[in-house]
Amino acid sequence: MSFNMSSMSDLIYLLIALIVLIAGSTLGAQITDLRVPSQALAGDDVTLHCDYDDNDSHLYSLKWYKDGLEFYRHVPSSHLDTIDQCSPISGIDTKCWESSERKVVLGGVVRDSSGNYTCEVIGDHPHFKKTSKSAVLNVYSQSLEIPVIVGAEEYYQELDYIKLNCTSLNSEYNPLLTWTINNQKPMLTEVLRGWNKLTVGLNFKAGIDKFIKGVITVHCMAQVGQHIKVAEVNLYSQHLQAQQYHLGGATGCVRDGFIVLCMATIATLAPLHFLLQ
Ligand SMILES: *[C@@H]1O[C@H](CO)[C@@H](O)[C@H](O)[C@H]1NC(C)=O
Ligand SMILES: *[C@@H]1O[C@H](CO)[C@@H](O)[C@H](O)[C@H]1NC(C)=O
Ligand SMILES: *[C@@H]1O[C@H](CO)[C@@H](O)[C@H](O)[C@H]1NC(C)=O
Repeated sequence: MSFNMSSMSDLIYLLIALIVLIAGSTLGAQITDLRVPSQALAGDDVTLHCDYDDNDSHLYSLKWYKDGLEFYRHVPSSHLDTIDQCSPISGIDTKCWESSERKVVLGGVVRDSSGNYTCEVIGDHPHFKKTSKSAVLNVYSQSLEIPVIVGAEEYYQELDYIKLNCTSLNSEYNPLLTWTINNQKPMLTEVLRGWNKLTVGLNFKAGIDKFIKGVITVHCMAQVGQHIKVAEVNLYSQHLQAQQYHLGGATGCVRDGFIVLCMATIATLAPLHFLLQ
């Protein structure tokens, strides 16, 4: 009886060992999320993320390489101190104290920091299964310019089509250009792309709901890495112009604030006009 019990538990142990072995050999430590920005400007601090899942096999080491050259390693160890080591390589100034096994910070990147970044994770014994993921970072030295919006007309009538172009003035790279109409994303069909990478068009109907107190505010945003520059244009309704004409016929009274200003001007000019007669 006791013999049977022990052979039974032996069998269970054997089964568990087998399952662990199979699971370990197929899974290992997995990279679950690699985040390397695709673009940055010279002088930026750039954070690289390499997240891994070590539920099935503990981490033996995690290393970062740029174009095949190692610049960071993390080797956890139970009996020795954990090693977090930054190796100097050309174009990389690792902020060692801010870096950890899941996040590495590169201080003040330069053009030479451009390259192919690889995170490599090795699982613990007995398999030492190695996995890696790579992504390319481009670093530019030209600062981001405010884009230019063209095509705005002086006034629009309701249901007119409003057609604008936004063009980047950068020559070294193509920033991402996006539009907003009254701070909201336009519909996909209202955005025109494809002429060249530096210009994005906008084409939408000036519906009555679009004019807020007679004005539609359109922004074009240029973005590269974490940098954003915005151009703004205000589009006025013909209706508003007509209203202002009735208010005093003064030119340049475009915004709400100006309407008040125009009325004040008329009020002060009226007695003057009387005096001159
Ligand atoms: C690994 O463990 C973490 C936390 O214990 C859990 O959130 C995650 O879902 C697990 N991953 C897998 C693949 O089981
Ligand atoms: C980046 O490096 C990895 C590993 O060496 C390689 O597999 C990958 O093709 C490289 N990617 C590019 C875009 O060069
Ligand atoms: C926008 O640019 C395209 C291509 O250069 C041009 O065909 C189109 O007329 C431009 N639209 C406006 C509103 O300037």
